[in-house]
Amino acid sequence: MKDGNKEARATSDRFSTGLGVLMATLGSAVGLGNIWKFPYLTGSNGGAAFLIIYIICTILVGYPIMIAEHALGRKGRSDAFSTFRKLAPKSIWWIIGAMGILAAFLIMAFYTEVAGWVFAYVFKSFGSGLLSTDPQVTTSVFTSLVTNPLQSLIWQWIVLIVVGAIIIMGVTKGIEGTTKKLLPILAILLIIIGIRSITLPNSVEGLTFLFKPDFSKITATTILTALGLAFFKLSIGMGAMLTYGSYYGDNQNIPVNAARVVAADLTVSILAGIAIFPAVFSFGFEPAAGTQLLFITIPSVFASMPFGKFFMVLFFLLTSFAAIGAMISLVEVVVAYLVNSLGMARNKATFATMGGMAVFGSLAALSNSTLSAVKVFGFTFFDFYDFTTSNILLPVGGLLLAIFTAWVWGWNKFNATTSNEGAIANAGITRVVFTILKFVTPILVAIILLTGLKIIQF
Ligand code: TRP
Repeated sequence: MKDGNKEARATSDRFSTGLGVLMATLGSAVGLGNIWKFPYLTGSNGGAAFLIIYIICTILVGYPIMIAEHALGRKGRSDAFSTFRKLAPKSIWWIIGAMGILAAFLIMAFYTEVAGWVFAYVFKSFGSGLLSTDPQVTTSVFTSLVTNPLQSLIWQWIVLIVVGAIIIMGVTKGIEGTTKKLLPILAILLIIIGIRSITLPNSVEGLTFLFKPDFSKITATTILTALGLAFFKLSIGMGAMLTYGSYYGDNQNIPVNAARVVAADLTVSILAGIAIFPAVFSFGFEPAAGTQLLFITIPSVFASMPFGKFFMVLFFLLTSFAAIGAMISLVEVVVAYLVNSLGMARNKATFATMGGMAVFGSLAALSNSTLSAVKVFGFTFFDFYDFTTSNILLPVGGLLLAIFTAWVWGWNKFNATTSNEGAIANAGITRVVFTILKFVTPILVAIILLTGLKIIQF
């Protein structure tokens, strides 16, 4: 961080300071994954035991892969696709980048829809219809939004337009500027909501659910879901962190930065859990309500606190900013590829990407209305995108990334990059990370994938 200022003037498409790098990376990691997905999956998968498995996956798989992506990205200084062409010419490892581009489209397809709900809730929060502790009331507000095809589409397009506009403004200004200031405010707000939630009657039940593990509910599918969440949460397994790594200055400390990102990200998720679960049990909501959990339960906390309406507007506003930061990193994977590898102009690349995402996305947006009867492998489009990206594409991408880094790129190059060519004496810790990448991550991910998808059974 001490060298940050020098970096600031180095080049316009690098993140300018050490703090900027941390905040921009956090801007990608922190998003709907923390506020919407983490609570809904924890609620549907039995609570604390799921949380523990998720944390183990984050440490043994998430952290090492994040370091690998940052190192590869900074070394390659290009998009996810051509970085592999550069680092391993005449091989097929570019397939990781290609899979990543596909994953970016599929994630954005449902992510923009959830972000659309959040945008809509900013406006709904001004009215009084939402401010209720009655599950029936809050559920019907949500249902009337998602079953309306036109509203679903329009909110999604608004999201796409906002994200596209920010991307066109360029890397440093667009990404760093947007995310830097807002995350700390979101964290403070979550603490305030959390305090209200745990002081509600019977809140203990919610805290017990979140923190007292009952491993009897854990199955191979649950473990795969926890692993998928670890990938999704940290934005790894598809080249988003690799693309961000390509904007890192040569003097930034990759392992330390990644550790801070992982810790801060986990903190935000747990704060979101503390804000939601005590209220779920206090007011008699269903913890396993699925994708609607956040939207139906969080208004009840605001309904029972002073200045509830004000805090609710602020909450959905900040959540939409967090979602924007995350979406920028997804779109950036595709745009960086079109610009660097295909030589497209940045504006054109952004338009093309957003257009493609609108096409995939509209199928997800209509999943609760017009297309609710259309199933892909038994899933609606929304659930299909959500499931296949987290539980298949990202883990497979991560598996390949770990194998590439440890077995193809190798210790010497990994060590040179993560130690900033010897400037930082961190070979002890990076040795551990490398060994995990080489043996633990691939084997663990492979076993969890194969058993979770029921390809092998014990
Ligand atoms: N991590 C983000 C979240 O939790 C989502 C996200 C952004 C993402 N970029 C990604 C997930 C790349 C996977 C890959 O909301």
